[in-house]
Amino acid sequence: MSHAHDHLVRLLAWLAGFEAAERRVHSQNGEDGVLEHLFGFVGAGPKNYIEFGVMSGRETNTRHLRKAHGWRGLMMDGGYRDPSINLQQEMINVSNVVSLFRKYGFAPETELDLLSVDTDCYDYWLTETVFSAGYRPRAIVNEVNAALTLAPPAKISVPPPDDPRAGGRSRCFGSSEADRLSSWFGGSVSAFSSLYQRYNYSMVYCESTGVNCFGVRDDLLRPSGSHGAHTPPVSSFLTDAMVYRPARYGPNCGGHPRPHAPARENAMRSRPFVDVAEQPKAAFPYVRAPAREPRKPGERYPTAQCAEGLRGNLCAGVSWA
Ligand SMILES: *[C@@H]1O[C@H](CO)[C@@H](O)[C@H](O)[C@H]1NC(C)=O
Ligand SMILES: *[C@@H]1O[C@H](CO)[C@@H](O)[C@H](O)[C@H]1NC(C)=O
Repeated sequence: MSHAHDHLVRLLAWLAGFEAAERRVHSQNGEDGVLEHLFGFVGAGPKNYIEFGVMSGRETNTRHLRKAHGWRGLMMDGGYRDPSINLQQEMINVSNVVSLFRKYGFAPETELDLLSVDTDCYDYWLTETVFSAGYRPRAIVNEVNAALTLAPPAKISVPPPDDPRAGGRSRCFGSSEADRLSSWFGGSVSAFSSLYQRYNYSMVYCESTGVNCFGVRDDLLRPSGSHGAHTPPVSSFLTDAMVYRPARYGPNCGGHPRPHAPARENAMRSRPFVDVAEQPKAAFPYVRAPAREPRKPGERYPTAQCAEGLRGNLCAGVSWA
């Protein structure tokens, strides 16, 4: 087996293994296990993170990494402060997010392992701002709005702050009952995955409640050596339809003040979402087995190598290897 082919087989098995890896220690859902699985393949650098929208810091994506794996980093939240865990009380918005990162020691060129964003509102625009400032964490976790399905227009988000299309609203959750129950927040899976692709990341997984999706820098998923640079990214074959999970908020709506799996139509009617920038997808020599055709794990095809465990089967053309 060539090195590149061997890498491909390991990559596919890793992608297919996320669901079984889900495990909750301090995270809201199975994110703790997902992150262990993710960094088990990708590897970590300085073992650091920035996470914002963490509330008291008790239920977060980074607490397990800190307590069990010795990671360190910065947490920020508008309503909470705890110096013992470097949780800083800051109101984050697109205008100040980069200066806040710098204020607490993270310049764009600082090596960063994990960025986790969950502010229930302008997450798409905050993430884009961080990317466009030059930050390139090895991996990223975004809360998505899974009530926004893959139906077109699929790449949508609440408008950026102060956008006239928001109808004068500056906050996602207001004080009225209608606002509290609104699903007008965040961005769709496709909005985030297209943002990732624009910055050379691939969305590799959304956990089973549909709430959090995970992106990884493409260079970390390529085989090393001369093959690497020419290897197409995971996003060229792992489609949004394969990673999207319908919203499955828990009994308390996963801590979010909104109804279970609110209909996209209602969300769309009540509040405006906007199409985010669309990036053309490059054509790569990957094939995907038809979803209905059962395949066996590891089964070989004349022209493809497949792995099971994702909806549909995941196959990659051997031309990669
Ligand atoms: C962002 O936050 C800063 C500091 O709280 C504030 O001065 C600024 O007006 C905010 N900007 C927006 C667009 O909300
Ligand atoms: C993505 O990778 C390509 C190829 O290496 C590079 O030319 C481009 O600048 C990268 N894009 C971003 C936004 O970093």
